[in-house]
Amino acid sequence: MQKLEFLLLLFLATFPITFSITDGLLPNGNFELGPKPSQLKGKVVTARDAIPEWTISGFVEYIRSGHKQGDMMVIVPEGDSAVRLGNEASIMQKVKLVKGMYYSITFSAGRTCAQDEKINVSVTPTSEKRNWGVFPIQTVHSSHGWDFYACGFKADHPEVEIVIHNTGGDEHPACGPVIDSVALAVLNHSKRTNGNLLKNGDFEDGPYVFPNTNCGVLIPPNMDDPHSPLPGWIVESLKSVKYLDSDHFSVPKGKRAIEFVAGKESAIAQIVRTQTGKIYDLSFAVGDANNACEGSMTVEAFVGTETVKVSYDSKGKGGFTRGRLRFKAVSSRTRITFFSSFYSMKIDGSLCGPVLDDVKLLSVRYLRHP
Ligand SMILES: *[C@@H]1O[C@H](CO)[C@@H](O)[C@H](O)[C@H]1NC(C)=O
Ligand SMILES: *[C@@H]1O[C@H](CO)[C@@H](O)[C@H](O)[C@H]1NC(C)=O
Repeated sequence: MQKLEFLLLLFLATFPITFSITDGLLPNGNFELGPKPSQLKGKVVTARDAIPEWTISGFVEYIRSGHKQGDMMVIVPEGDSAVRLGNEASIMQKVKLVKGMYYSITFSAGRTCAQDEKINVSVTPTSEKRNWGVFPIQTVHSSHGWDFYACGFKADHPEVEIVIHNTGGDEHPACGPVIDSVALAVLNHSKRTNGNLLKNGDFEDGPYVFPNTNCGVLIPPNMDDPHSPLPGWIVESLKSVKYLDSDHFSVPKGKRAIEFVAGKESAIAQIVRTQTGKIYDLSFAVGDANNACEGSMTVEAFVGTETVKVSYDSKGKGGFTRGRLRFKAVSSRTRITFFSSFYSMKIDGSLCGPVLDDVKLLSVRYLRHP
């Protein structure tokens, strides 16, 4: 045996777990493999392990595209099949992870009834105070009736169970969200550098974005959640921000950016270590995603009592401008917050807004052109 091969085998034998996950769809994460006909009663799944790779609990329907509920067409987000969770129903999958690492879960969900529907995504077992998040599936941000959502967690165990649970509380058996396309990705949590005192200021580190869809990923408010799917950042206030990729949208820098799709109702913030009395420069890019979101847009940045408004006139075809705020730190921790002053809407009625990217914070000492 060659020395290199031997070392590789030794490495594989020592760290087998390292090879257990790659970014992307979970096994049968899009539910294309379904139950045997004997495990279905109409659309209802009758055995706990009938859907390959998944375990179910409660009233779960296996939906094929073209399925009607009364007069309404139930939308399957991707491929031919999806599942619909009745009240208090769950789907679960065990995954092998690297203990101590951070992950994000991306999934698509659509609602079927007018009522608010809520999904609780949790990861067990955990030694964290909290390893779950609730997603309200209410305002549909896209025109096609479903959206992608993302959350983040830290793996406390080498094997965890991902549970997607409908906590909606709507007793009507025909109500309950449709779930499809469940994916996992490793979050890097790269360190801050002297080139940028902010973590993940360019939003490159974030949840999995499906390469074949052009609708972005909603990141819901995660104020109480210790593990954001967007490392470094907290989505504040009531509504989600949207995570965009450069394959389908125009982004000012790199491959990823965020779009404020809910006006003042969504904000993102980061808390940074600062030295009291020191001068800092905050700079950022504001633009549009080349997604037909037109009109005048304004992004506000807040640092303590200082604020700056950056206006941008969007033609809906991509492009950006830059904003800057110089401030003096008044404490050892400074909160930097961004939001959009206005709502914007596309002609099809879906919500949209300005894009934020390339957020940098420098201590003035490091500036080449002070
Ligand atoms: C979400 O699920 C987790 C795990 O089952 C549970 O501990 C938590 O209380 C649930 N949260 C809500 C709001 O239902
Ligand atoms: C995460 O880290 C890996 C390995 O260093 C790198 O290839 C990848 O580009 C990083 N991703 C992001 C989003 O920073």
